Amino acid sequence: MAKRNRLQPRRLDPKSDQKIEHVNKNKEQVREYFNNARINIDYSIIKEDGSGKSFIITSGLQAEGKSFCALNLARSYGSITENKVLLLECDLHAPKLHRYLNVPSKPGLTDFLSNKNNFSEICSYNREENFHVITSGTRVPNPSVFLSGKFFRSLLEKLEKQFNYIVIDTPPVLQVTDACSFVAYTDGAVIVTRAGESTKPNLKLTIDTLTKAQATILGVILNDVDFTKKGYGYGYGYGYGYRIDED
Ligand SMILES: Nc1ncnc2c1ncn2[C@@H]1O[C@H](COP(=O)(O)OP(=O)(O)O)[C@@H](O)[C@H]1O
Ligand SMILES: [Mg+2]
Repeated sequence: MAKRNRLQPRRLDPKSDQKIEHVNKNKEQVREYFNNARINIDYSIIKEDGSGKSFIITSGLQAEGKSFCALNLARSYGSITENKVLLLECDLHAPKLHRYLNVPSKPGLTDFLSNKNNFSEICSYNREENFHVITSGTRVPNPSVFLSGKFFRSLLEKLEKQFNYIVIDTPPVLQVTDACSFVAYTDGAVIVTRAGESTKPNLKLTIDTLTKAQATILGVILNDVDFTKKGYGYGYGYGYGYRIDED
């Protein structure tokens, strides 16, 4: 029977082949953009009680780059040695982080929430990049039930005591309600929008939906910007643009 008291992460075997798969090649540039985003997010969350900062990464629709941004932000937070960082997969509909990280998806969050596994079995430490990760876990037919429950809420509270930063990957808010059901229990939402694909009405609707759910909007990441195109330049206001070229 799983115990739920002390949150104790397991260590990955350093000899295992559970290596981070880099989803891009231009690492230096990506790192710089996400360091910038990290600093801005950090300034947007003001906490005086000393607990960790938790926020969701979300967008209106799928494939706008939520998981990509969540992973790269976790890396950026992890690049500061003293940070204790958790990357939490809460897209239980189309989980991707385990693939990007090349780790098993289960056991994970749903297994902990259904009391099948203890914390040390679902939380892994990526020593190379200094962040912990909790994957989605065994697929469940009713993800929103898991994420809207008291047990998940109390897990979030415990995590804020244990980690300095909790980066939460979520499903699209215009497609499922999951992220809206718990965003109010985090410090806010970072919205991802994809250059050339996301539309203004959808972005507005995304902001409205999150605002109704009592979310603090921390900022918008403008993902996949082609800076070589005319018209793109500096000055997105509260946005961070980048594009990763294939080679
Ligand atoms: N800036 C980017 N440059 C290159 N590929 C990207 C970028 N952002 C996202 N992708 C790719 O687009 C696809 C969808 O991104 P993902 O983060 O999984 O979307 P979401 O989580 O919003 O559904 C993935 O293959 C991802 O690697
Ligand atoms: Mg995703």
